Amino acid sequence: MEQRKEDSTLKDNVAECLEMLEIRNDVESTRTTEVCGQEAQQLRETCQHLLLCPYPVEEFELPTSLRLQELPLFPQWHLPLKVMASLMVSTFLYTLLRDVVQPLVTQSRNDSYKIPILVMNKVLPWTSITLLATVYLPGVLAAILQLHRGTKYSHFPDWLGRWMSVRKQLGLLSFLLACLHAIYSLSYPMRRSYRYKMLSWAYQQVKQNKEDAWVADDVWRMEIYVSLGILGLGVLAVIAVSSLPSVSEAFNWREFQCIQRNLGYLALLLCTAHALVFGWRKWVELKHYVWYTPPSFILASLLPAVVLSVKMVLCLPCLGRRLERIRRGWERPHSQ
Ligand code: HEM
Repeated sequence: MEQRKEDSTLKDNVAECLEMLEIRNDVESTRTTEVCGQEAQQLRETCQHLLLCPYPVEEFELPTSLRLQELPLFPQWHLPLKVMASLMVSTFLYTLLRDVVQPLVTQSRNDSYKIPILVMNKVLPWTSITLLATVYLPGVLAAILQLHRGTKYSHFPDWLGRWMSVRKQLGLLSFLLACLHAIYSLSYPMRRSYRYKMLSWAYQQVKQNKEDAWVADDVWRMEIYVSLGILGLGVLAVIAVSSLPSVSEAFNWREFQCIQRNLGYLALLLCTAHALVFGWRKWVELKHYVWYTPPSFILASLLPAVVLSVKMVLCLPCLGRRLERIRRGWERPHSQ
């Protein structure tokens, strides 16, 4: 039993190697590919032979050129992880400058306690929503290209093809950061700094002889944006679960497209609305433009708003119908 399990693991490994080989040959140029050309073909044939073999396969039977340990780790995740890391670093520096450096320089106030939670809780949702927008941006660009060319039978540029091939990874990273953001947000009232601030606010109230601290505008703002955030996260969770191979196999192609596309845009809409309602009127209040920089929620909502607006334009009947026809195979005469 154990032997059979080991054998199937080894076979899985060989199958993976083959897959990696395909990916590597697809993704990387032949210059950088270690195994290429004729060698790759031979390797593929040997492995396929091993996979079909009805007897247990030992590791030493594998061709030496198939170095299991040297296989690239998570090749499909390299680009999404790099994008996520660069976004996180830039948003972190931007928020640090506004929320920590500015008070220190202008008022000699040390707000560095904000870094672990408050600054992080701007970096996480900002990166998350930007990654989510980058999941749907290539689809919108591809649609514009198809409309422009009047056909679906011409290749997308390489960079667009590569971008489209990593949308699942970008979406999953966005979901991960959104979950972290939700946990960080829910931890707000547990923080000691929050309790001290509450006490100071209460004391100020008493000093000003105010009995009621209720600000209806603020209450509504918060109720709405938290609710939109929770709904957004819920929809993202459904999309993430539906992208698991074991779940997606249960759907037919149309059902899968329907979930990934329609729910995806719904999630983007809910999350953008969540960020904008969180901002409420802050975008017109000058005091929020610290050192002439716009508040982060404005920058965070910019790309998603562009993607949603272009998508809405593409859904207009005149363009939507033409796109539908192109996708069904229709070609404009003399199209490139
Ligand atoms: C359970 C779900 C969620 C809760 C409870 C929640 C809560 C919050 C809170 C409390 C803030 C204000 C943060 C602050 O004071 O600086 C906020 C801001 C924000 N949230 Fe969420 N959120 C949720 C889900 C999401 C999701 C799914 C996204 C998008 C991927 C998102 C994107 C944003 C953005 C972009 C901001 C503005 C951050 C800034 O630049 O200031 N949120 N959210």
